[in-house]
Amino acid sequence: MLLTNSGAAAGWLKRRYGDAFTLDMPVFGRGVVVSSPELVKQMFTAKPDVLVFGQSSPLGDVLGPGSLFSLDGKRHLDERRLLLPPFHGERMKSYEAIIEEEARREMAAWQDGVEFATLPSFMRITLNSILRAVFGARGPHQRRLAELLPGLVSLASRLTLLPSAQRDLGRLSPGGLFARRRRTYDELIDTMIDECLADPALEDRVDVMALLLRAHYEDGSSMSRSAIADELLTLLAAGHETTATSLAWAVERLTRHPSTLLRLQSEARSGGAELRAATINEIQRVRPVITGTGRQVAADEFQLGEWRVPRGYRVFASATLIHNDERFFERPLEFDPDRFLGRKPDTYTWIPFGGGTRRCIGAAFAQMEMDVVLRTMLCEFELQPTAKRGERWHNRGVAFAPARGGRAALTRIVTEPPQPAAVGDGALAAA
Ligand code: HEM
Repeated sequence: MLLTNSGAAAGWLKRRYGDAFTLDMPVFGRGVVVSSPELVKQMFTAKPDVLVFGQSSPLGDVLGPGSLFSLDGKRHLDERRLLLPPFHGERMKSYEAIIEEEARREMAAWQDGVEFATLPSFMRITLNSILRAVFGARGPHQRRLAELLPGLVSLASRLTLLPSAQRDLGRLSPGGLFARRRRTYDELIDTMIDECLADPALEDRVDVMALLLRAHYEDGSSMSRSAIADELLTLLAAGHETTATSLAWAVERLTRHPSTLLRLQSEARSGGAELRAATINEIQRVRPVITGTGRQVAADEFQLGEWRVPRGYRVFASATLIHNDERFFERPLEFDPDRFLGRKPDTYTWIPFGGGTRRCIGAAFAQMEMDVVLRTMLCEFELQPTAKRGERWHNRGVAFAPARGGRAALTRIVTEPPQPAAVGDGALAAA
């Protein structure tokens, strides 16, 4: 993933060198950054043995050998086939109720009219939604995972930026701490797998853990316990913070665009969804929380436009650069959801979820989750607009978040009809 922020430096390089330029990047090494639809398409549609991901992914190193981020070629495609069903169609719809419940539970604690950073709240909503929908966790297991996983994932994402610290050099070293927490996680998942297999309702369960335990590869074999543990951790690491930070950006943008906010509120309260869907696309265009994605050349060379990129080089598609390019988006720096009204985003100029055979497996889940959380918020609260400057970008390791956490003041809408006077009240008044 590309480690630039709002893209000021990358924007300067693009203006100077065009749609492809070479850059030396910490951790990733030398790479070519591309930002035209033609070059992005070549990258996303390259054969999986020419451009690889897993062999070169620092994320895969910490998430384990069974993680999608660690796999390439046929093993990657086989694993994706097993993981895809829960993230599509009717299966995914069954997670909506969980997300709405988690959103309502969290929002019940929001204090009327008091400004606060919304990001921690969104982090809890997306964490608990994944724990229930993906891990199938309830009660004490859910609480234990909620305590353990945010720290484990944040340590993992810091270790991806510092590969030399990954080795276990004793209890107090970052690598040692990670190894200990990872063992605790594996033990808990082992227990949960035992309980899931013993569950008489296993066949009816729709959580991803149960689906993976019932799934089979093409040769009839099933997933190992360690592969399931790696994949569940991967889904959490990839899906929790990314979705929460996108929601915080939604609050940050909407509080600064009151007319869009008003239209969204009245649409949500009358049961509509079209402008909300366009808004979610636009938030991901102007504030992509993962600012780009990369592959590594595994063949002797990779033909990219007029250039031949040698083995070992990285190729990065920059979402920030392509989303901000006025050849593809009119007035690109403006937040304008109407540009996506009734229009699907283009595959190679709107790339917050990457593309090709490695496109984000949870994209539809993330869009649905953002839709449910925003709908709940817009129906139950008035967001107070602000004239303050936009929040800056802040790198949290996995994702770029609004630096102040998407601060906002919200007022609860009172929807309950006024309570009729109790019988006794009337009697007292008459006395
Ligand atoms: C707004 C939220 C999200 C954003 C912006 C996002 C973005 C991305 C990006 C840019 C990639 C790399 C794609 C590529 O290299 O072409 C990716 C991969 C992935 N994402 Fe997401 N993601 C989000 C939410 C989720 C969710 C909710 C899940 C699952 C619960 C998820 C699971 C994954 C997985 C497993 C991969 C690896 C796919 C593979 O290698 O085949 N993501 N995501």
